[in-house]
Amino acid sequence: SAQLNELAKAAGKLYFGTATDNGELNVTEYVQILSNTSEFGQLTPSNGMKWFAVEPELGVFNFSMGSVVADLATKNKQLLRCHNLVWHSQLAPWVDNNTWTKENLTAALIDHVTTEAKHWAGQCYAWDVVNEALNDDGTFRNDTFLNVLGPDYIKIAFKAAAAADPAAKLYYNDYNIESLSNKSTAARNNIVKFLQDAGIRIDGVGLQSHFTVGRSPTLDDQIANMKAFTDLGVDVAITELDVRLEEPENATNLAGQSEIYKNTTGACLQVERCVGITVWDFYDPNSWVPGVFTGFGSADLWFTNFTKHPAYYGIVDALKNS
Ligand code: G3I
Repeated sequence: SAQLNELAKAAGKLYFGTATDNGELNVTEYVQILSNTSEFGQLTPSNGMKWFAVEPELGVFNFSMGSVVADLATKNKQLLRCHNLVWHSQLAPWVDNNTWTKENLTAALIDHVTTEAKHWAGQCYAWDVVNEALNDDGTFRNDTFLNVLGPDYIKIAFKAAAAADPAAKLYYNDYNIESLSNKSTAARNNIVKFLQDAGIRIDGVGLQSHFTVGRSPTLDDQIANMKAFTDLGVDVAITELDVRLEEPENATNLAGQSEIYKNTTGACLQVERCVGITVWDFYDPNSWVPGVFTGFGSADLWFTNFTKHPAYYGIVDALKNS
């Protein structure tokens, strides 16, 4: 029967993809599914392109970790979403520990973005240039970049990325911006418009979509929110979709999970400039959820024994009925 990426493309989307990580590539059955382009037409490295891995010391670059997934995507002829250039988390300790002036942090930021984006130029369909720069109330997240440079660090990063990789779509990526809220309003006004008003290129907004059974935005909420972004002239993408449930899984919470995966897929299908959907891994043992949310898990599409969650068929349903 037809599979996720095949169906997404038939429905007019660019890809259905997944995140994956280097340490996950030693399980044969996992890699077979990952590399099946009928299922997944796009990969995102979930850790290897982050600052701690790429520039562990000032001016010392290491692309080996990120290249594992990038090269796998190239070999499989899958699109690559590159993740990410600037984020407060999984940062190299030297960034937070140094005493910076505006001048030398600007120089370090430009050098990081430029060197990394140039390294993978031509391979990245899109870059998450800035990740999670906002608090839930819509204010800017207080990190080293904001402290030293103010919100202008976002301009500096996008400008450098545009110069370094003119072909890549440049995204702002965040969570809790999947329905209309103070945070999604701030993403529109204080990130998208902020850059556009300065004449700096931003091509898209990544809606991470880390959802929980029992509380997630409705289909209509998600459509309205996506349209509010695309009305500004940018694309949107579902970049990190997963739906956690309170363990143990049962028929009821798996059905709830299926409904949420189906609605998010359906929302993307109804918004022309929603370009594609990426799940934040597809195999439960590789999910980040249980390590962070005690008692929650089973957030992905394949169970440990490689049978599929009902949610897989919920997505198929949405893709077939677009
Ligand atoms: O590699 C080490 C390993 O050597 C060590 O034994 C093990 C013990 O804790 O840790 C391993 O590193 C972990 C790394 O993932 C690789 O598995 C880190 O502890 C762990 O913190 C890290 O988590 C990542 C998380 O970002 C950090 O915030 C997840 O894999 C990754 O999926 C997750 O992804 C983020 C996105 O980048 C941004 N949006 C939210 C999303 C989920 O948190």
